[in-house]
Amino acid sequence: TRYFAIVPAAGSGSRMGAEQPKQYLALCGKPLLWHAIAALAAVPRIAKVFVVLSPEDEWWESFDWSTFGTRLQVLRVGGATRAQSVSNGLSAVAGQVAAEDWMLVHDAARACLSVAQVDALIDTLAEDPVGGLLAVPVADTLKRADGAARVAATVARDGLWQAQTPQMFRHALLSRALAACPGVTDEAGAIEALGLAPRLVAADATNFKVTYPQDLALAAQILHARST
Ligand code: C5P
Repeated sequence: TRYFAIVPAAGSGSRMGAEQPKQYLALCGKPLLWHAIAALAAVPRIAKVFVVLSPEDEWWESFDWSTFGTRLQVLRVGGATRAQSVSNGLSAVAGQVAAEDWMLVHDAARACLSVAQVDALIDTLAEDPVGGLLAVPVADTLKRADGAARVAATVARDGLWQAQTPQMFRHALLSRALAACPGVTDEAGAIEALGLAPRLVAADATNFKVTYPQDLALAAQILHARST
């Protein structure tokens, strides 16, 4: 059984309000996507990192990816949704990945992923019958809003976790799950729809998804603190 990573990076990143797609925003002199790939490529057990780009992507070529060599392979098969991009990527690599091989699906926007977190995920799930994902228990009190930004209810946070990535499932199971459930916002959601229960592996908040412009400064601080 081998381990592969797949990074869907075919989004437009509209919430960032920037001209370039979010995955290409600069963080410590490199695109966000570069950092996400670097974290995965630094894990010796991961045989290869696949990146799913939009067929119309015009940004990739303007950066230098040579440091990753043959451990990185580009797939220009992105789809209309994240789930579609992952699903297309899984089909595109079917010739070089076995049905039982593990696929670690990771957001391009989670640039602060650490090798220790990936190791913890793989160590916990290597013998798991289903697979699972990095996640953190919810710390804040949660409010459900009515249509006018007033509190309609307080949601009990016991047992609630925030899903992160990587999410790790075997190639055949994940392909089948995403084909049956193309509307999901993460891979675990598709696995759950098959009636299976993915395992939650406790991570930490540094593996957050860069979503808003102010997130870039925080991400830079986290990376800087790690390199000193
Ligand atoms: O927009 P959001 O942060 O939820 O996107 C999560 C990940 O999915 C990003 O890495 C984004 O590039 C990717 N994505 C994709 N194809 C899409 C939409 C999003 O690969 N059609």
